[in-house]
Amino acid sequence: MKLIEVKDYQEMSQVAADYLLSKVKTSQDLTLGLATGGTPKGLYEALILDHHENKTSYQHVSSFNLDEYIGLSGTHPNSYSHYMEENLFKHIDIESKNTNIPSGKAPDLEHECEEYDKKIDSYGGIDLQVLGIGSNGHIGFNEPGTSFDSNTHIVELAQSTLKANARYFDSIDEVPTHAITMGIASIMKSKEILLLASGQSKQNALKTLVEGDISENFPASILNRHANVTVIADEEALAMVKGLELLNR
Ligand code: F6R
Repeated sequence: MKLIEVKDYQEMSQVAADYLLSKVKTSQDLTLGLATGGTPKGLYEALILDHHENKTSYQHVSSFNLDEYIGLSGTHPNSYSHYMEENLFKHIDIESKNTNIPSGKAPDLEHECEEYDKKIDSYGGIDLQVLGIGSNGHIGFNEPGTSFDSNTHIVELAQSTLKANARYFDSIDEVPTHAITMGIASIMKSKEILLLASGQSKQNALKTLVEGDISENFPASILNRHANVTVIADEEALAMVKGLELLNR
């Protein structure tokens, strides 16, 4: 795992954007794995700004999102489909036929999961996967206890995740209890992974990621077994991590 330590959220977002843009500009054909949530918003803002200022094109880029709530249609304001449209897709020139997000309204959700993994494979896999991290170590919506062998699947969200995501809803009772998520195995197949973390709420998660054991009880710990992971984290998120050099091994 490599670490890029940055000062704050803004610098994390810009460094992540520069990292992504270097791939977008030099590849003929690029498949990105994308995340939602608070963490990548600044990254997406920086990409949009660059698109307006420098005209970087995404015509050759495809994307697969990590997850979606079950029961919300793609146009629901809290769906991840809507989030991606509002926070990135509608502002750049990526073609909508090249953007993929699992459907939380599919009539046969198991089939939707199988097809999602098949579709990723048919694109030759994900070249660069962007990840945030939950305070309990989840990546995508793979909550503690998820098998490291899991493919895209349906999950029941942990209470801590419902609480964390309630900020986007009128009340916690409105947060969907289930989601469809790329599995740990699906994520680990990505050729390269960029994990972003900012702020105090990620301190414990980063400490466990760096200093803890590799265990299904802390899903992100599997990233220690991936050959090409870069963590971009700010000073606050890294405040509890001892021996930062461990990250640059
Ligand atoms: C989002 C996702 C989640 C988030 C994580 C952190 O697509 O897969 O794993 O990355 O919950 O969320 P934020 O960034 O809101 O702290």
